[in-house]
Amino acid sequence: MSKQTLRIGLAGLGRLGRRYAENLARAVPRAELVAVSSPVEAERAWASEALGDVRVYDSFEAMLADEAIDAVFLVTPTSLHATQIEQALDAGKHVFCEKPLSLDLDDCRRVAKHAAKSASRAMVGFVRRFDESYRHAARHIEAGGIGRPFMVYSQTTDLADPSGAFLEFAPTSGGIFLDCSVHDIDLARWLLGRPVAKRVYSTGTVAMYPPLEALGDVDNGVAICEFADGRMAMFYASRTQAHGHDTHTDVVGTAGKVSIGRNPRADRVEISDAAGVRNTVVPSFYERFAPAFVTQARHFVDAVLDETPFELTIDDAVEATRIAVALRESLRSGQPVDL
Ligand code: NAI
Repeated sequence: MSKQTLRIGLAGLGRLGRRYAENLARAVPRAELVAVSSPVEAERAWASEALGDVRVYDSFEAMLADEAIDAVFLVTPTSLHATQIEQALDAGKHVFCEKPLSLDLDDCRRVAKHAAKSASRAMVGFVRRFDESYRHAARHIEAGGIGRPFMVYSQTTDLADPSGAFLEFAPTSGGIFLDCSVHDIDLARWLLGRPVAKRVYSTGTVAMYPPLEALGDVDNGVAICEFADGRMAMFYASRTQAHGHDTHTDVVGTAGKVSIGRNPRADRVEISDAAGVRNTVVPSFYERFAPAFVTQARHFVDAVLDETPFELTIDDAVEATRIAVALRESLRSGQPVDL
């Protein structure tokens, strides 16, 4: 009989880690959040206050030594993911890690090899695969609803923040394609049935945040990806939208098209008056994908407990980084990059 609950230790209690902590403590029936870790005292104080009966560690290594933990969730800075996945696997824990796996392709490949040899299991999360609308579209495509899909347009665009707060993490984010378009890259590969990328080209502009120039980064980037079988994808990433967080995707096929999230509406209210017809927009990725984060965590927990496959593999995460790194290279060189 399969085990009833998975005992989890969560590392990272920042912007997203707190949401994970609350989800794992309250919304994932077969998960038991038993421990958290953060090097930041204020974050540990929040955990003691908000999460009740969990052990709170000041170091990741101390948490890993806790024998009551079966699996680790990593919602830590991206630069730590590769090493922490390996440490957790070596400690005999299963691992869920937030995207991206790493900003460095060699690190990604090393982790993939490490995971393949380990008795424990690892999954890198790409939350959009667990969103109900994207899943509906995937089922429609799978059933032949648009014929043969051959083109994806996908964008991840964030609300402009006049305070420029994101500039604090911009230097370690890997740039706009590794931070934002990595989601669209994963979606394109998933919805087109895992084609292999052949060549990419990207360009971009700094429309609102001049400090990005010194980092070789942009606040608006566009990209083209050609796949070996002749199919293609276009990506747009932005940090400067005036209306809200606007993530949407079109998949075009020989017999139709499916569009996901075209109007990034916050709810189902539409206001009509002398100024026209309008709706409000989700302010950030979390309002858009909150239920999908829960579904994703449930999927990981169920797959580990029931010993069933993960819906996405470490190789998917490696490939997303491979393509995003090439896009960054193209942005810097101004040339197409062959993969
Ligand atoms: P953040 O900077 O707000 O939080 C990072 C957390 O890690 C902080 O709590 C920090 O104290 C903690 N930390 C640092 N070193 C640590 C260590 N050695 N052990 C344990 N904890 C440590 O970052 P944020 O925005 O929460 O992002 C975390 C990850 O989530 C990133 O990899 C990012 O790419 C990903 N992310 C994914 C999103 C999605 O749409 N799927 C959206 C936002 C972030």
